[in-house]
Amino acid sequence: MADDELSVLVKSANSAMILVTAASDGERAGCLVGFHAQSSITPPRYCVWLSKANHTYRVALRSTHFGLHFLAADDHATAEAFGSVSGDDTDKFAGRSVLAGPGGVPLLTDLPNRLVGRRLCALDDGGDHVCFTLEPVAASAPEPFTPLRLSQALDIAPGHDNTERPAPPTERAGRAAG
Ligand SMILES: Cc1cc2nc3c(=O)[nH]c(=O)nc-3n(C[C@H](O)[C@H](O)[C@H](O)COP(=O)(O)O)c2cc1C
Repeated sequence: MADDELSVLVKSANSAMILVTAASDGERAGCLVGFHAQSSITPPRYCVWLSKANHTYRVALRSTHFGLHFLAADDHATAEAFGSVSGDDTDKFAGRSVLAGPGGVPLLTDLPNRLVGRRLCALDDGGDHVCFTLEPVAASAPEPFTPLRLSQALDIAPGHDNTERPAPPTERAGRAAG
């Protein structure tokens, strides 16, 4: 299968972009996410896929609740702030208006179209992202909005590349390779 044809399909689908937040042990995390979808109607379920390279993923592993902020077309600056730098280097929430949601998840007050999900399970299928299945526990959608789409976020260089992971995968394999 040609990677470029998959890329054409995905770019044509032009998904809406969201910002996923989580917190654990007093550490806040959040990043721009294009991989997300509702996955069940009754009961409601919603999935997000987080890159193993990301600070947000490592915090999310220890979090009970996730905040899913649906970005509007004029939220490009916020998308860039959360998608182009890593929480490994900086606190992206500094200077922003944040409230504590269910389970202590940080919610950005200037992004009112959002969903809070309680983590049900995580699936690592061996890829570079992990699927988190969430049970929606709160949602707000104050007014209809035009989403920020993938095509409007392609100029953002990710804070962590998806290929960033230890190679070889274990320290022992590294020593064996010399
Ligand atoms: C267009 C676009 C889509 C992205 N989609 C995802 C995604 O679905 N899941 C993910 O974990 N990271 C995604 N990223 C990457 C992260 O947002 C980015 O690497 C971020 O800086 C990671 O921050 P963190 O290390 O603080 O978690 C995307 C980035 C861009 C520019």
